[in-house]
Amino acid sequence: MKGRDVYVIGAGMSSFGEHWDSSLRELIVDAAIKAIADSKIEGKQLQAVYGGCMASGLFAGQEHVGALIADYLGLNPLPSTRLEAACASGSVAMRNGIMAIASGFYDVVAVGGVEKMTDVSTEMASTTLGGAGDEEWELFNGATFPALYALMARRHMLEYGTTEEQMAMVAVKNHANAAKNRYAQFQKEITIDTVMKSQYVASPLKLFDCSPLTDGAAAVILASGDVAKKICEKPIKLIASSQASDSLALANRASFSSLRATQIAAKEAFTQAGIKSKDVDVAELHDCFTIAELMAMEDLGFCEKGKSGKMVEAGQTKIGSDIPINTSGGLKGCGHPVGATGVKQIVEIAWQLRGEATGRQVKNAEIGLTHNVGGSGATAVVHLLKKDF
Ligand code: COA
Repeated sequence: MKGRDVYVIGAGMSSFGEHWDSSLRELIVDAAIKAIADSKIEGKQLQAVYGGCMASGLFAGQEHVGALIADYLGLNPLPSTRLEAACASGSVAMRNGIMAIASGFYDVVAVGGVEKMTDVSTEMASTTLGGAGDEEWELFNGATFPALYALMARRHMLEYGTTEEQMAMVAVKNHANAAKNRYAQFQKEITIDTVMKSQYVASPLKLFDCSPLTDGAAAVILASGDVAKKICEKPIKLIASSQASDSLALANRASFSSLRATQIAAKEAFTQAGIKSKDVDVAELHDCFTIAELMAMEDLGFCEKGKSGKMVEAGQTKIGSDIPINTSGGLKGCGHPVGATGVKQIVEIAWQLRGEATGRQVKNAEIGLTHNVGGSGATAVVHLLKKDF
């Protein structure tokens, strides 16, 4: 990675779920205070804040979230900026925090992500989320996100013989991992039958193939190498940060069964870090729908194109296997508060690399990957992190 070394020195998150008794600001303050306490720095040592949030205006009637975060954390007059890239907002905030430190502009910054999605009706939430696709060509014609990913699933099934059962296995694994994560929205294991007998949302995707609507926040503290090495016992080094874009509308893509933005971001991330996909010990992938996890496995190089269904079927992505995927429960089991997800993925990987993922710890994890997608693939962000103690 170019520039100065950047480390995660603190991590924290709110619990994910339906929070009737917490507001948007309470969620982000909860996560940020935990991350600051974890880092052992004091709030006054922070030099800037970067916050990911997709649609607080439509979900909660609140814009200007950057200023809100600084205000309610008592950090005024610190520069505090909101970043938006749909469901990849958190990862884009992360990249901005990384670049601020790598460039030498700041030494210690906070990065957060937040979304409060459950105060509106499901119809309103679907319409709001649909705005992350092409409003004129997709949403206006009724193509919500489950519908767009259903088209990708159909194409993957046609091209590679992927089955609904294989997609169900992704959900079963991620719910099992979530049941071991006290911050997760879903705390119960499910069976393939649970998924297969659930109602179709957009065929072939059923209720249990979908990530839920979620309230939640996550935060990390980033520091330069000098600061991290002085104050942090378990620093986690960022070894790659990459982002790529593609057409907003699915119809303009060359392929429906892979995400080009993921492939490009992955290639760049592995080049930056000088490693290969086989060197990754634990990964948090963007499983907004079960088919998304399967496509990401292929696009990131964890298996050959078309082989992800078989790999999940063989249990090769469970904790204890070669490449445990979505140990937090992923978006499917842990929940998907859209603006928070990218930062939560970093929190989970930091915990894994520090050996603190109680109940779901991957043995001897040294290198972790996060993969976060905005829209149906118009933005993709990949981060690589390494244990450095
Ligand atoms: N997975 C598993 N269970 C779910 C669930 C999901 N995705 N969504 C809701 N449930 C459960 C609820 O916990 C509730 O269970 P209970 O009756 O035991 O309490 C039940 O299903 C009904 O919940 P409700 O909130 O009424 O569901 P809904 O019909 O309003 O919403 C979806 C279901 C699938 C439409 C909604 O979760 C959704 O839109 N998901 C996709 C989100 C999305 O597109 N994100 C962006 C991706 S890019």
